[in-house]
Amino acid sequence: MGLFGGGRPRPMTHRTQVGIVGAGPSGLLLSHLLARDGIESVVVENRSREYCERRQRAGLLEQGTVSLLRDSGLGARLDVEGIEHGGIYLQYAGERYHVDFRDLAGATVTIYAQTEIVKDLIAARLADDQQIEFSVSDTALAEIDSDQPLLRYQDSNGAAHEVVCDVIAGCDGFHGISTIAAPAEQVWERSYPYSWLGVLADVAPSTDDLIYAHHPEGFALHSLRSPQVSRLYLQVDADEDIAAWSDDRIWAALQRRFAVDGWTLHEGPIREKSILPMRSYVRAPMRRGRLFLAGDAAHIVPPTGAKGLNLAVRDVARLATALTSWLRDGDRRLAEEYAEASLRRVWRATHFSWWMTSMLHTTPGDDFGLALQLAQLRYTTTSRAAATTLAENYTGVAAA
Ligand code: APR
Ligand code: PHB
Repeated sequence: MGLFGGGRPRPMTHRTQVGIVGAGPSGLLLSHLLARDGIESVVVENRSREYCERRQRAGLLEQGTVSLLRDSGLGARLDVEGIEHGGIYLQYAGERYHVDFRDLAGATVTIYAQTEIVKDLIAARLADDQQIEFSVSDTALAEIDSDQPLLRYQDSNGAAHEVVCDVIAGCDGFHGISTIAAPAEQVWERSYPYSWLGVLADVAPSTDDLIYAHHPEGFALHSLRSPQVSRLYLQVDADEDIAAWSDDRIWAALQRRFAVDGWTLHEGPIREKSILPMRSYVRAPMRRGRLFLAGDAAHIVPPTGAKGLNLAVRDVARLATALTSWLRDGDRRLAEEYAEASLRRVWRATHFSWWMTSMLHTTPGDDFGLALQLAQLRYTTTSRAAATTLAENYTGVAAA
């Protein structure tokens, strides 16, 4: 029996430049961008590869996100399967209005599911012989305030590992462990009294561009995944039980909320349904010493406007550049600026997501709120200035 650790064998020790916790879009993309600049990393993930590749999330990419993925060699499937959109429809009081992003902001967005990006990233990392450890347990960070922070975990066979890092990136989402090692100085939070019920249906989309529908009964969104698959969302109560929503009930609610004269919502088999919570959450700082937070570990937005993934991509693009100039060129300036510079973009997206959410979701009995929403929707669909504000923020070209 050994003297330490209750007789457990000593961990296997490794060394890398950047230890990355989490193989969601943030962690995988960071590892990919760093590798392109010659920086080595190790990614550890407590879920299985299959789980990571199956998780259903949003699927709307800002123009800048598409460019970044393409420029970093991840465009092959995105360019074939991604569906570009030059605008959205805003619907209220039984009328539908088009907001033209190309005209207003000179930009577009692209539908390409986050789960497909994750598959592309995992394939790229493994093809590059880079290390991703799936199904790990007991992930822990230590010596965060030293020059050599440690990333500890047990692999899927139960063997203990310790990775000596120059820097650690906490990309482990809202429920991860990195935020424990980097306590927040300040947290800003807002919860909303409703959730989204999301469904994936095997039916061709009934629309050319996404429809955001305001309805006294609640918000509805018509999105898509492919020419054969529709993605639809309904506002439901915050504590809603999915079992209460039969497929028939879902289609009936969608039919009522999207109804406009002369347009048909086509129905088809529902393949998957789930409830998504809605919350706004920002924590600062996004860094402690050599531990940097990125993506959902540092901020959550409600899904209206689909900023979550795009914000995560902005964080890791900035972080990859900062860490490269530090670890390869010895210049720490960008790493010092990372936390504050990222937060500006985070707050722009936090405001936009809150604004879209507040304009479109109804609260029973709040007649004053309803009248304000209709006034705001009317203004947004009739004033070029107001429509431009939406278009710039939605496509991600707004200054932060
Ligand atoms: N050890 C290792 N991995 C962990 C741990 C841990 N202790 N805790 C969590 N993880 C993993 C999760 O299993 C998940 O795969 O970290 C990953 C975090 O991924 P995401 O939650 O997807 O967060 P992020 O990569 O920042 O993605 C940004 O954009 O569309 C939004 O919220 C959506 O996930 C999306 C986000
Ligand atoms: C999606 O397609 O999942 C989606 C699109 C737009 C949103 C939210 C989600 O605002």
